Amino acid sequence: MLLKEYLETGKKLVESGIDKYLSELSYPEVIAEGMKYAVLNGGKRLRPILHFMTLEILGCKKEMGLATASAIEMIHSYSLVHDDLPALDNDDYRRGKLTTHKKFGEAQGILIGDALLTHAFYVLTEKNSELSPEKIVEIVKLTSSYAGINGMIGGQMVDIESEGKKISLETLKYMHANKTGKLLRLPVETACVIAGAMKEDRDVLLKYSELVGLAFQIKDDILDIEGDFESIGKPVGSDLEHDKSTYPSILGMEKSKELLKETIESAKTIIVDRFGAEKGRVLLELAEYIGDRNK
Ligand code: IPE
Ligand code: IPE
Ligand code: MG
Ligand code: MG
Ligand code: MG
Repeated sequence: MLLKEYLETGKKLVESGIDKYLSELSYPEVIAEGMKYAVLNGGKRLRPILHFMTLEILGCKKEMGLATASAIEMIHSYSLVHDDLPALDNDDYRRGKLTTHKKFGEAQGILIGDALLTHAFYVLTEKNSELSPEKIVEIVKLTSSYAGINGMIGGQMVDIESEGKKISLETLKYMHANKTGKLLRLPVETACVIAGAMKEDRDVLLKYSELVGLAFQIKDDILDIEGDFESIGKPVGSDLEHDKSTYPSILGMEKSKELLKETIESAKTIIVDRFGAEKGRVLLELAEYIGDRNK
């Protein structure tokens, strides 16, 4: 399967970038060590892989996106460090290991997360020397917007506020589109900036990222109920325990699975229509993987 190789090479590439950038840091030791612990610990690297795939379908080399992909994975990993804190989801395991605050302490966990978020912007600006200043500014603008109130943080706040409540489908959609969707759109949109994509390609790729982003969080909600700890590397039943609003809790399991399938099919259709099945092959396989994954 083409995708399997792609996932492996993309993972290796981005981990080499992250390792290189984080190895420049040494003091305070606990922060430098904690940053590596929180990022280089077996994540799927889906966001960097989406970035690489988008660059390649637009005719660019993956390596052009190394700094951007590494920075996005640092921000994603920071979001997980803070998501697991006692004040948020209060989870003890992530990627099969103790969560960062469990390993290093709560204050340290907060600061390690903050350090990853801010260092990502250092990487975006300092390590992207092959890109024009205009492109770097555009990437920084998108990243700061999608990681903040109009993106991941907005979605996370609604997630927390929705605990123990019956929320509308509209609120649920906002929550998913932002807490997860924006950080999956970001690698695609920044790749379009790097490649100088034409509007028609960009529109389709962004729509694809929105659809796979939605599918990804529906599947995450399903795995919280039907997954097993060995595979997902984080506690099963965390959403139920915190009375979270999720697709299964609002729509029921059967409808959630139907919606997941439909969303994956729509993502595939728009790629085939624009790029054809051959050129779009890895994006099609990735969409399927997101629906079928068990981790
Ligand atoms: C988990 O993301 C958090 C969500 C947005 C659902 P991933 O499932 O991509 O986590 P890692 O990076 O592979 O650990
Ligand atoms: C969190 O969603 C998404 C983030 C912005 C970190 P979840 O709380 O469902 O993620 P998991 O299940 O803990 O990975
Ligand atoms: Mg959460
Ligand atoms: Mg969580
Ligand atoms: Mg979850």
